[in-house]
Amino acid sequence: MKQQLENLISRVQNPLTHKSITDDKLFIAIEEGEKPVVVLKAAGDKKWQLAIEAQVRTLASKEGIAPDGFKFKWSDAKPEVTKQGPVAKPQRSIPGVKHVIAIASGKGGVGKSTVSVNLASTLQQMGKKVGLMDADIYGPSVGKMLGLSGRQQIDVKNDRITPVEKYGLKLMSFSFLVDDNQPIVWRGPMLGKAVEQFLYDMNWGELDFLIIDLPPGTGDTQLSLAQLVQTDGAVIVTTPQSVALLDAGRAVAMFEQVNIPILGVVENMSEFICSHCGKPSHIFSKGGGSRLAASTDSVLLGQVPLVEDCMAAAEKGEIPVYKNKNKNIKPVVDAFEHIARNLVSKLENV
Ligand SMILES: Nc1ncnc2c1ncn2[C@@H]1O[C@H](COP(=O)(O)OP(=O)(O)O)[C@@H](O)[C@H]1O
Ligand SMILES: [Mg+2]
Repeated sequence: MKQQLENLISRVQNPLTHKSITDDKLFIAIEEGEKPVVVLKAAGDKKWQLAIEAQVRTLASKEGIAPDGFKFKWSDAKPEVTKQGPVAKPQRSIPGVKHVIAIASGKGGVGKSTVSVNLASTLQQMGKKVGLMDADIYGPSVGKMLGLSGRQQIDVKNDRITPVEKYGLKLMSFSFLVDDNQPIVWRGPMLGKAVEQFLYDMNWGELDFLIIDLPPGTGDTQLSLAQLVQTDGAVIVTTPQSVALLDAGRAVAMFEQVNIPILGVVENMSEFICSHCGKPSHIFSKGGGSRLAASTDSVLLGQVPLVEDCMAAAEKGEIPVYKNKNKNIKPVVDAFEHIARNLVSKLENV
């Protein structure tokens, strides 16, 4: 992998000079270890670093290397030391936004976007002002789940992007800016900049909650994103079986490392509810979410059952819990109300 990484590094562009980072002498070495570490020279701000990291990851994933299969180290960076620990937290908050909540998972496919969308909608239906940002730059799916496939008309006023509004939510996704079939490699250079813009150059207005759908996994991308903004904390989504819990446990550990509080665990697909007979069965085993919560000193915010109509709604671009009258989805609606209430009371008690 070291050789592969070395080869692709020469194709990465310095966003400031538009020359390759090897020409600009920014590439220092690749350190071998449990995960290879790409050592680069820090010659720009955090945004600049993220843009370069994103290019490397995008090129790497085209070579079949997992985007979180290696790490980055920026030398000459100013030492990031805070009172709380060795890694600095950005102390920027988004004007007008009361609570920022990151939704995270150890791996993809566990329902992170489903939880982001339905939690956002439930909070909105409880009378809160809610924004939803799809920061899953590698697989943005919030747009599609809300019936906003592909590029969207984005309004810019006074240099600020106006979020797209649908179902009473203010929305932003990377997928709104690019065509669905655009190869991911083109996105790389835009990523770091885009995400920071989504947070700070947006006209979010007054929000009670900004929900951020983070990319799955426990790599630097997730951390950088979570650290770009001062979050209230992260909600970890997992499925109940022990293999999934291992990944989720790693996600918890990652946030703890940088002092981002864990607000709680959501166990998704906790039971399968048959749409014909209404009977629940525990196809992915039982009790994982509460075990994870206990072992990580956090709380189980709630359990969401696996319901076929919930998936079907998302496929149609509808929010399952939004003004839903389908009785099959009622258990999902109830679950999200429970989760939203728990989350709100958790935040009020902090
Ligand atoms: N509780 C659920 N009931 C039915 N389908 C679900 C449920 N949770 C997730 N899904 C479906 O599973 C797939 C993966 O979920 P998604 O939220 O996209 O996962 P992630 O964002 O973690 O990759 C989607 O098709 C989604 O509609
Ligand atoms: Mg997703």
